[in-house]
Formats: sequence, C-alpha cells, structure tokens
Amino acid sequence: MMSTPSSLAPTVTLGNGVAMPRLGLGTWPMDDAQAARVVARALDMGYRLIDTAENYRNERGVGEGLRASGVPREQVFVTTKFNKQWHSVEGVQQACDASLQRLGLDYVDLLLVHWPNPDQDRYVEAFQGMVRLLEAGKVRAIGTSNFKHAHLQRLFDLGLVPHVNQIHLDPYHGRSDVVQVHRERGIVTESWSPLGRAGALLQEPAILAAAERHGRTAAQVVLRWHTQQGYVPIPKSADPLRLQQNLDSFGFTLSDEEMAAISALDRVDPAMLDSDVFGH
Ligand code: A2P
Repeated sequence: MMSTPSSLAPTVTLGNGVAMPRLGLGTWPMDDAQAARVVARALDMGYRLIDTAENYRNERGVGEGLRASGVPREQVFVTTKFNKQWHSVEGVQQACDASLQRLGLDYVDLLLVHWPNPDQDRYVEAFQGMVRLLEAGKVRAIGTSNFKHAHLQRLFDLGLVPHVNQIHLDPYHGRSDVVQVHRERGIVTESWSPLGRAGALLQEPAILAAAERHGRTAAQVVLRWHTQQGYVPIPKSADPLRLQQNLDSFGFTLSDEEMAAISALDRVDPAMLDSDVFGH
C-alpha cells in the first residue's frame, strides 16, 4: 500500500551520529489493532518515527503496522521504553529482547528508561544495561524519559549521557530548567503530549493569532513551536486528516515575537506528573 509520501520530516543528528526524524507518531493509548492500522497509514503518509512502550501494550500492533506499510525497516526510526521491573543490567537485556519479540524486529532505533522511579533507585543500572545493548547492536541509540536534572546528573557523574530525554513538554509546560541541561550536554529533547492533549492550549489567543497569520491550524503552530527550538514532538493522532496536518507542520517559520508569545504561556501546573513520585 506504499505510495509516495508528500513530505518526510527532516532529521536531527544524535550525539552518536544516528539520524532521528524531527517529528514522530505517538501511539499511547492505542491498542494493538488501532496501532497496526494507524502506524501503517502514518508510514504511508511519510512518518518515519514511531514511538511505543512496553507499558502501552501495543508493540505487537506497531510491528504489524510497520510490516503492513511496506516501508523498508531501515527507513523507520522505532522507539520503545521499558518499565521499572527491568531496572538492572540483566533485566534490561530481557526487557529489550521481549520488546523486540513483540515488535517482530531485531533492533530498535531508540530505547528509553520510561520513568526514573528514584524510590527504587536503579535507573543508573538500567542505563548501564542499555550501554551494553548499544554495544551489542540491539539498539542504535539510548535515552531516558521523564528524567529531571537531578536524575540526569547521576548519569553525568559517571560519564554517561543519554542521546535523548523524552519529557512532557508543550507551551504550558516549557520545562526550561531541564531543556537547558539538554542543550549543555547535547541531548535531544523529545516532547510527549506536545499538543497539550488538544485541550485549552489549542484555543489560546497567541496560538490562534499565529495560526491565522500563517494560514495554518493551531496544532501546526504548536508543533512548529517545538521543531523551531529543536525539540522532537511526537503527537498522537488516530485521525487521517490530523495525522497529515501534524506531519505537514514544517513549511513555515514563526517569528521571534510569535515564538515569545507562545512561550509566555508557560505556567505552573500542579496536576503535572512528578517523576520523583510517579512511575511504572
Ligand atoms: P485524535 O487521535 O482524535 O486526533 P498529545 O499528543 O498532545 O497527547 O495530543 C493527543 C490528542 O490530540 C489526541 O486526543 C488527538 O486526538 C488530538 N490531536 C492530535 N492531532 C491533532 C490536531 N492536529 N488537531 C486537534 N487535535 C489533535
């Protein structure tokens, strides 16, 4: 079912030279059947980064969608993540093998520690386990998710630097503290829930005004806000039109004033998940 995609997201180069698409498809909370359908469709449109996790319970569907698409494996950047029960050097080997089996793949492009779970305090060992996987060629890049500066610092102190840290980030959650650390260390910032779950954010006057000026949708403006700063957003959509719209969010430039007005939406969100407390 492969057709010629109208657009492919450009790439960013990770610290180890691996190219990562600058926008991808989030798959939470799709089930296997939906993931298989949507992943195949998204790849057909030109998506080349697919984000899943053990915890989403849809890796089988993601693998199925990949095979159904007909896009060659090496052209797709597949990310998955593992849960806290695997936080040990040996555990991570098992977690990776189990993910590969569910996905039907022999390597993943990016493997992430899903949550630091500092109460368990084994995320450093988990990271060391991923270094071994990198050496074995089972993963092409390794990173973290939901790590704060203090969690990253524990890795830095041992000379370890993730290629990517995937965090909850949108204009309401600017996360400037951790993003600054990423910049200093050459870590790529990946944004989960980049659209603020399509809630009040997409009605913000600063975003609607920019959308009007550029003849774009609010979602496209928000995604451009991410990519213009070098962030890699992974919006989830199961809707064909919104999938296409999200992918086609590169061909315009927000002015410095527009970027600043959108960044000014940053606020304290007491409901935001705290990775010192929440994790799985
Ligand atoms: P749907 O799957 O029906 O398109 P986030 O990635 O920030 O968590 O947001 C995901 C939510 O945003 C989903 O509910 C998704 O719904 C919706 N969504 C995705 N893309 C768009 C878009 N371009 N415009 C409006 N809503 C969108």
